[in-house]
Amino acid sequence: MTNKYSSIKKNDFKSFATTLRTNMCGELNRDLIGSKVKLCGWVNKRRDHGKLIFLDLRDFTGLVQVVFDAHDNEPAYNIAKEIRTEYVVLIEGTLKARSAETVNKELATGDVEVAADSISILSSSKTPPYALDERDRVDEMTRLKYRYVDLRTEDMQESLRLRHKVTSTTRQYLNSNGFIEVETPILAKSTPEGARDFLVPSRLNPGTFYALPQSPQLYKQILMFSGFDRIYQIARCFRDEDLRADRQPEFTQIDLEMSFVGVDDVLKLIEGLIAKIFAETLGSDLALPFKRLSWKHSMEAYGTDKPDLRFGMEITDLTDIFKNSQFNIFINVLSRKGVIKGLKVDDGSQFTRKELDEFVDTARKYGAGGLIWIKVESGNVLNSPVSKFLTDDEKQQLIDRLELKENNLVLIVADQFLKTCSALGALRNYLGHRLNLIDLDAFDFAWIVDFPMFEFDDREKRLSPMHHPFTSPSPDSLDMLDIEPLNVKSLAYDIVLNGNEIGGGSIRINDIELQRKIFRILGFDDKRIEDNFGFFLRALQYGAPPHGGIALGMDRLVMILGMLESIREVIAFPKTQSAYCIMTESPSVVTEQQLSEVSIKLSPAKKQGEE
Ligand code: AMO
Repeated sequence: MTNKYSSIKKNDFKSFATTLRTNMCGELNRDLIGSKVKLCGWVNKRRDHGKLIFLDLRDFTGLVQVVFDAHDNEPAYNIAKEIRTEYVVLIEGTLKARSAETVNKELATGDVEVAADSISILSSSKTPPYALDERDRVDEMTRLKYRYVDLRTEDMQESLRLRHKVTSTTRQYLNSNGFIEVETPILAKSTPEGARDFLVPSRLNPGTFYALPQSPQLYKQILMFSGFDRIYQIARCFRDEDLRADRQPEFTQIDLEMSFVGVDDVLKLIEGLIAKIFAETLGSDLALPFKRLSWKHSMEAYGTDKPDLRFGMEITDLTDIFKNSQFNIFINVLSRKGVIKGLKVDDGSQFTRKELDEFVDTARKYGAGGLIWIKVESGNVLNSPVSKFLTDDEKQQLIDRLELKENNLVLIVADQFLKTCSALGALRNYLGHRLNLIDLDAFDFAWIVDFPMFEFDDREKRLSPMHHPFTSPSPDSLDMLDIEPLNVKSLAYDIVLNGNEIGGGSIRINDIELQRKIFRILGFDDKRIEDNFGFFLRALQYGAPPHGGIALGMDRLVMILGMLESIREVIAFPKTQSAYCIMTESPSVVTEQQLSEVSIKLSPAKKQGEE
């Protein structure tokens, strides 16, 4: 694991003397040679060279070598002999220069060492489950089980330092831009916001439940109604959804809301924040403003609303070329108002038949009916299992449109717009990595704007909001709300970095009638509106300013800054893929009494802890 932050991290963290220590390990250097020092920390390694014992002592600032010489100080040497890795010790000694041959250039304190006068054991340690420098070879479950050991590794300490730096920079930036930090409840109301809620039973109100907030959305809007102009929160959010490398059931947002703003105000503020975070952590200078892509363009060209813009390979529309096709698959798709799109791979001759079959499987996994591949051979002959179904004219148009040359590969998907885009988008991402087209040191940001207000939920057979129901429709498409809701655009925006959605927000509705109308379009009847959102609609009646905001996914942002693969690497105590904390063994069963206090009786079929 490489953490980009590592090269610049430490000197930010000063050393602190306490009643137990004079110095911290990482600060010791040539200037302090001759000083008497008192150090505390963990034994990182112990090397026994007969009458000489070397301990590497480690604390939050780094490592220093300590020498115990049996000839100079036998009592201390005898204690050092008993010491094992990860013991916590207090050492007193004198800082000395290392001889030229023993200087360790790899270590920040490698010019010096401590000649020990005394050592005392503050806490002993069992043999740790793995040595800290073996972290890369240890499976993640073991690391999570012994998280207190894992958190001692340099990788984890750097990640959490980086996270802290992002949090503190954010606070400084927002504080100096007129924001105040306001906390909102964790015991909140269950309101449908997209994901499933985590519920908390109420003891004092039997049979009722709080929900842990999926985000502070409604509270932050209500604070705007109350005149707070600009507020933020480093907010913990809870969503009971299926987990992936970039999703945790509880995660953190940099969550903010502003009054009397338009889209440009929010975007500009966030660009400033992100530029400051990058400058403070990586020392890099981001080019502002970030590009803006419409949702439609992003889907058309990259097959996703979170495009990885570090490489090209854009998707090309081919629908018109095949409008008179005699090929059954194309006829069917076009008769259902579907689309035909293709991806050109420059060096496509390298793919085996097996890989091409896997591309077909990928397309199916993303919901498309299948995938057609065409290899371009010498003389621009198109070789494909379906070439006999394509006319010479269609082939020539394909060659012209995609500027095909020998060794190119074309991947074509024909299906409904979203399925076609997602399948080709997934293949584009895969190929970008597989063909090393991505500059892994680049940070490529974009805003995605002009989102549709609604999408059709195939499973529920009704409209659902593309963002959330409090997002304002764009004023120029308001008149389509009643007639063609799927063509209404919203004032929502997402921020995307290297193919990850790192944030999203919108300008909100501040008109009660419009808000009611949106709920109705989403299929909520009056009772449901009152039960779930009555409080919010009442709040909207007492003077609500135009307002808007955004939430950045803090964990994802820090993960990308640290060039890490999973947000679990930037969270001190994350859950596993099955939302379990192996270290604390949670969730866990509770007593019958605890259950009865909150009026809960488990069904006999489902005993506690059973799936
Ligand atoms: P949204 O649901 O888009 O917006 O969330 C904002 C950002 O939070 C991050 N994120 C997550 N990170 C880790 N684990 C998760 N399970 C997870 N879910 C989301 C993403 C995402 O872009 N209330 C609105 C914001 C607003 O309108 O102001 C909201 O929560 O990076």
